[in-house]
Amino acid sequence: MKHKPESVNVTTKSIVILISGHGSNMRALLEADLPCRVAAVISNRVDAPGLEIAKQHGITTRVVAHRNHPDRESFDSELAICIDSYQPDLIVLAGFMRILTPQFVARYQNKLINIHPSLLPAYSGLNTHARALQDGVKIHGCTVHFVTSDVDHGPIIIQAAVPVLMDDTPATLAARVLHQEHRIFPQAIRWFCNDDISLSADGKVRMKRLEQPDCTLISPRMEYANA
Ligand code: GRF
Repeated sequence: MKHKPESVNVTTKSIVILISGHGSNMRALLEADLPCRVAAVISNRVDAPGLEIAKQHGITTRVVAHRNHPDRESFDSELAICIDSYQPDLIVLAGFMRILTPQFVARYQNKLINIHPSLLPAYSGLNTHARALQDGVKIHGCTVHFVTSDVDHGPIIIQAAVPVLMDDTPATLAARVLHQEHRIFPQAIRWFCNDDISLSADGKVRMKRLEQPDCTLISPRMEYANA
């Protein structure tokens, strides 16, 4: 992440990234040279490996340990105090594994985004890759969306689809999806920071620029070209 000179453009947005674990999505964001400033990385786990990655990039790190709180409301309140100290334009859930209370989500409505390892609304919740394999789907993927109180069902910003291969295991499928997560998450945040996306009255994400080439994915690959 290149650090912008002091004479930073006043419209440069700031973001706070929330993690719980490895932080591979956070790393992808830090390495994407996004048009924004990362004010802090906050983890709910003191042992999250992603904290070290953030420190190596010179990013302020904080821990708000969920284990120190008797309930979600208490945790979310301390988390909000920590977030508000940075006054971010966007809060990014990057492998953040806590369910947030409706009050917390309402506080950050339309500036809270998440990445989920499935093509929502399919496979909301956990263990998405094993469930997709169990169902025998041939196309799987990942989704970046705004967070609402309806878990994993907020307005979708961007998705990536990958083929499910005959010999896939949850681990091989997860790795293929994760690679695409690392591509679409920075793209979603770039659009947000450049004000390229907006939310319509019916709760759908609209792109200000509409060039959208057709790039059909068919899985398994078809054998007859003119089929
Ligand atoms: C990713 O699959 C992400 O979609 C999910 O958590 C997994 C780990 O993310 N939310 P990271 O490596 O900690 O960014």
